[in-house]
Amino acid sequence: MTNNNSKLVIAIDGYSSCGKSTVAKDLAKLLNIIFIDSGAMYRCVTLYALKNQIISGGTINQNLLKDGLNKVNISFKFDASTKTNETYLNGKLVEDEIRSLEVSNHVSAISALGFVRKKMVDLQQEMGKTNSIVMDGRDIGTVVFPEADLKIFMTASPEIRAERRLKEYQQKNQKITFEEVLENVVSRDHLDETRDESPLKKADDAIVLDNGHLDKEQQLNFIVNELKNRKLI
Ligand code: DC
Repeated sequence: MTNNNSKLVIAIDGYSSCGKSTVAKDLAKLLNIIFIDSGAMYRCVTLYALKNQIISGGTINQNLLKDGLNKVNISFKFDASTKTNETYLNGKLVEDEIRSLEVSNHVSAISALGFVRKKMVDLQQEMGKTNSIVMDGRDIGTVVFPEADLKIFMTASPEIRAERRLKEYQQKNQKITFEEVLENVVSRDHLDETRDESPLKKADDAIVLDNGHLDKEQQLNFIVNELKNRKLI
């Protein structure tokens, strides 16, 4: 819980498959505050675009997407049995579908579009207006909440991250090789870092957390210690 009943905003940014959401979820649970996975929101827009022929042959029809965005309703519901936040697109649970390789392969292109980002950032800022929140993403500390109380920038080597994501695919019985996952990780890093709109970059006042060789508990402790040092909890 927060120290003085004031609102607490924690931004966790970093590379794909770094475990940002895992540590953000653990932190939200510990502090009893809301967790939002902003990447899931871009994934929902991508899934919508794929399902509605807005992406075809790898090309995005931007006019169709601009119209379509008004029909995209993203919400999160807390599932008490699994104790996780589940993502819903237009009322349908899409938590698994948005993590498919097809969505992963197109999400960087969708999230590079300025009008998509504007809509997502507006929604994200709205969520943080009245609530204490932990949000993870790429631009949370730089664009969405530049005044966040604590900013963490997470990183780990591409190989370690690909290995982690491969395990997730294998658990879901999705057939994919290590090389394919690594290629996706490396290409998304490149697209995320070099796009014109809000490229992935560490905020000047963010603290780097390289979690390549840290377990979940060590990562959580790292962040909790930072919060304590700043007398935020
Ligand atoms: O965190 P993730 O891998 O689920 O994110 C999916 C994609 O969305 C990723 O390629 C970058 C993009 N993204 C973004 O541009 N800005 C955010 N705040 C979150 C994600």
